[in-house]
Amino acid sequence: MRLAGKVALITGAARGIGRAFAEAYAREGAVVAVADIQGAAETAAQIPGAFGITMDVTDQASIDAAVAEVVKVAGGIDILLNNAAAFDLAPIVEITRQSYQRIMDINVAGTLFPLQAVARQMIKQGRGGRIINMASQAGRRGEALVGVYCASKAAVISLTQSAGLDLIKHGIKVNGIAPGVVDTPMWDQVDALFAKYENLPLGEKKRQVGLAVPHGRMGRPEDLTGMAVFLASDEADYIVAQTYNVDGGNWMN
Ligand SMILES: NC(=O)c1ccc[n+]([C@@H]2O[C@H](COP(=O)([O-])OP(=O)(O)OC[C@H]3O[C@@H](n4cnc5c(N)ncnc54)[C@H](O)[C@@H]3O)[C@@H](O)[C@H]2O)c1
Repeated sequence: MRLAGKVALITGAARGIGRAFAEAYAREGAVVAVADIQGAAETAAQIPGAFGITMDVTDQASIDAAVAEVVKVAGGIDILLNNAAAFDLAPIVEITRQSYQRIMDINVAGTLFPLQAVARQMIKQGRGGRIINMASQAGRRGEALVGVYCASKAAVISLTQSAGLDLIKHGIKVNGIAPGVVDTPMWDQVDALFAKYENLPLGEKKRQVGLAVPHGRMGRPEDLTGMAVFLASDEADYIVAQTYNVDGGNWMN
């Protein structure tokens, strides 16, 4: 077991990729705090070695309370996986301030401030730690209809670089994962938005993006777990400030 004796906090872990991460970390022996704005307790109840925490990554009091709760229940934090995020889509001339604010709050501030709170706790503990931020292929390029989400994930890649360089002196390694297209509840929302703006039948965009992946299909949450376990394990000790594509070749294409 590669994470035996470790305590992990995973945000947005009630469903989708975050849930697969929680299951994988628990299988590798970690005590896992499944944190989410909704459904955390229900998911945690199905994962041996996990407990649930209701946490809103956009709310500082909620972040601080979640960190304190993990420390109280599990005695400290060794791994933070910043996974919670939200998606929106609109042509540039239709983007609203409300949409911009929501996506930036959840995806960027919702990565930075949990990272900050957990880094403070890890510095206090004095035994280093691992922080993994979920980016996206969307953070490596612009997309006509996806301006705000792409910008938010570019910010996550940049924050991963800066935090990685700043926190290494404390033995805290910060890295990221950039998936391509992964079949989760988020992609059902993405598909519905593309259907509206590109005048497609429901399910058609999802079919098209799956066919375009060099591997031959969309990703599944389980396709991401190997990298997430690796980056949290001792084997990744010398890796700092990187974001890795795990995308079936999609970005290269
Ligand atoms: N699905 C994809 O194709 C894809 C591609 C690239 C990157 N990603 C990234 O992977 C991560 C997981 O994506 P997913 O597809 O599993 O998404 P998802 O929408 O299925 O799950 C996201 C989870 O985050 C939670 N969440 C939302 N706002 C929150 C908040 N304010 N506080 C706490 N939790 C909150 C939701 O309740 C949900 O459980 C995200 O960072 C996403 O941007 C996904």
